[in-house]
Amino acid sequence: MEAILLVGGQGTRLRPLTISTPKPLLPTAGVAFLAHQLARAHAAGVTRIVFATSYRAEMFEAAFGDHAHGVDLTYVTEDEPLGTGGAIRNASRALVSSPDDPVLILNGDILSGHDVQAQVDLHEKTNAAVTLHLTEVDDPSRFGCVPTDTNGRVTAFLEKTPHPVTNQINAGCYVFRRSAIETIPEDEVVSVERETFPSLIASGAPVMGHVESAYWLDVGTPEAFIQGSRDLVLGTLTSPAMPGPPGDRLTLPGATVAPGAVVRGGTTVGRNAVIESGATVTGSILLDEAHVAEGATVRDSVLSRAARVGPGAVLDGVVLGDGAVVGPGNELRPGLRVWPGIELPPTAIRFSTDA
Ligand code: GDD
Ligand code: MG
Repeated sequence: MEAILLVGGQGTRLRPLTISTPKPLLPTAGVAFLAHQLARAHAAGVTRIVFATSYRAEMFEAAFGDHAHGVDLTYVTEDEPLGTGGAIRNASRALVSSPDDPVLILNGDILSGHDVQAQVDLHEKTNAAVTLHLTEVDDPSRFGCVPTDTNGRVTAFLEKTPHPVTNQINAGCYVFRRSAIETIPEDEVVSVERETFPSLIASGAPVMGHVESAYWLDVGTPEAFIQGSRDLVLGTLTSPAMPGPPGDRLTLPGATVAPGAVVRGGTTVGRNAVIESGATVTGSILLDEAHVAEGATVRDSVLSRAARVGPGAVLDGVVLGDGAVVGPGNELRPGLRVWPGIELPPTAIRFSTDA
């Protein structure tokens, strides 16, 4: 089976992490995020993937070349982003499947443990034009809301509606009959969610929902990105691309964790990163060369490459950009994002305790 992987988005909600690296290439549990998706696609019987790239397109081929994780890879780049539907149509030029063959389409920011083969089986059994993986979430207003009838047929597609009619949402993995892709207009900006799905449904084409509530996560926000990495390290979701066995933490080659430091909760410690004695790091991602000084506390946070946390500082739900420095004694609360190279000076309180 062939697949198209949508990886052209700018990942704005994940800035500053995505300033230098596109979202699908961010290190997640020690490897590029996409490694997990490629390995899982391979396990589901996908043999060839066309990457639909746009933002920082050249970095994808540099990362994966023409074969990775058991899958042959091809790259098709949009000069200007064509939206999700335009990207699928554009990338379909590189497919070799026949008109009736199923083609898997994947959003490039999803961790999913669902049964892809069962989704394809439903697609074939019902002779559908498109079969969508659907799952349930608490807040459907942030996603594509997708009601189905008693036969599992999709009755509407409501993208990011403030008035969802069901908690059942589009999970970002579709099986398209190859010929259904050709119904998307060529060389135009098209949203598969706002245009293609609603018009297929309106035209009476069979659009089916494969409802399955296995592990599922869109890693498009810092909180979700950190959670995804943590779940992979802890083994909550298994991935053939994991660089080590599941456990409380993943320590990459060259990292130094002082004997007196507490590091757990699915934390990844990147190459040549350092955690000093008396520091506590839980549920976090330390990229290469990040540094946590003695007595600091880091919870549910991302420290980008060479970011530094000073002695006694406390970070909770924070993102530090490349080379950002948090001076001793600072306390940073959830949602705070520090841009690359920014240095927060030591706090006055710290000066007085030092004196
Ligand atoms: N090539 C290309 N070109 N890719 C794009 C473009 C584009 O113009 N725009 C977005 N993408 C890619 C992104 O890189 C991402 O992998 C995928 O399309 C989805 O974009 P997001 O920006 O992550 O969308 P979302 O999370 O707000 O919503 C989508 O995913 C939800 C599930 O996580 C929608 O499909 C929702 O309906 C769905 O519920
Ligand atoms: Mg997304």
